Amino acid sequence: MNIGELIDGRYKIIQLLGKGGFGETYLVENLDQPGSQYAIKRFTFPSINSGFAKAKELFTREGQTLKRLTHEQIPKFFRTLEVNQDFYLIQEYIEGNTLSEEIQPGKQLKENEVRDFLDELLRILDYVHHENIIHRDIKPENIIRRKNDHKLVLIDFGAVKEIVAQTTLQRLPTQVSTLGYTPPEQIAGRPKFNSDIYALGITAIVALTGMEAHDLPYDKDDEVDWQSSATVSHTLASILNKMVRQDYRLRYQSVKEILNDLDHLIAQPIPQSSQNTNTITKLINPDPRSQELSTQMNLFSLLVFVIIIAIFYAAGLSRIINQKPPKQQSFLIEKSFDGKNSGVRSQNIA
Ligand SMILES: Nc1ncnc2c1ncn2[C@@H]1O[C@H](COP(=O)(O)OP(=O)(O)OP(=O)(O)O)[C@@H](O)[C@H]1O
Ligand SMILES: [Mg+2]
Repeated sequence: MNIGELIDGRYKIIQLLGKGGFGETYLVENLDQPGSQYAIKRFTFPSINSGFAKAKELFTREGQTLKRLTHEQIPKFFRTLEVNQDFYLIQEYIEGNTLSEEIQPGKQLKENEVRDFLDELLRILDYVHHENIIHRDIKPENIIRRKNDHKLVLIDFGAVKEIVAQTTLQRLPTQVSTLGYTPPEQIAGRPKFNSDIYALGITAIVALTGMEAHDLPYDKDDEVDWQSSATVSHTLASILNKMVRQDYRLRYQSVKEILNDLDHLIAQPIPQSSQNTNTITKLINPDPRSQELSTQMNLFSLLVFVIIIAIFYAAGLSRIINQKPPKQQSFLIEKSFDGKNSGVRSQNIA
């Protein structure tokens, strides 16, 4: 479509904002509201099949779901449209640049910068998940730093794209995934809420290492092997490692859990000694073997203590048995049991 062209007779195309695998996004003006600005995303269907009616139904329904989202760091979704068998999603226009301007290959962001954007995005994601929506396509290109207040805004929700991909004959891409950012269960077609956690973890790792997501190395267990390429505290590294576990069952299960660990990290100055770091790291990822070992050590110390007490006790007792009581003491004892002189006895009890 060209600049100046009208969509649905009233949305005038001002500028092409982006072009992806599913269609294009335009900045438009609604001629019924002079001076207004909207972002319209067009989804094209290269090969229409008999599933079109179904696709339209699902697309409209997904549009309704997105309309439910009311968060100041998510663009407002106003309506869906279908024109000549193309689908359109009309949204609030967010002026600003995407995070890919800040997160660039070869540039390593500082730990506190990464911690800050992670915290901000986790709070948005917490809201999204509570609305029962999985974003499915978190990456720097889908996060805008808003010009007027510098806050981050999460754009480009993937569910609509997924419907288009699944209900048409469109071959590429067959699903919403971005190499390096999409976890295995989502690639297998079974996205979970913590698939978003994985993608956000990779975003942070990409920012810390300055590497591109598709270039990140994997270790022998198939986990992302990135720490040696970044300057990062053990604590943040453990949080990120738990966000990007390949097995979604071993990952953080909710955004709240990460926020808790991150709050703990923010409350602490960046640890200097490795001992401190290890302590906090253990709080996040306690090693069951070391816990078992320390329980065994405690039991052993207790046993030694009891044996020593028993030895002292036995030694003391045998001395008392073997020793004759001193004269004065025996006199007092005799006196106290005398019966006639109960004064000494009552003095001892008082
Ligand atoms: N609501 C919006 N406000 C401002 N700019 C937007 C908005 N939505 C998208 N954009 C801009 O348009 C670009 C492309 O949009 P979007 O991310 O929705 O699609 P895409 O990633 O290009 O395509 P696809 O995900 O279908 O492959 C974004 O990177 C961003 O620069
Ligand atoms: Mg995008």
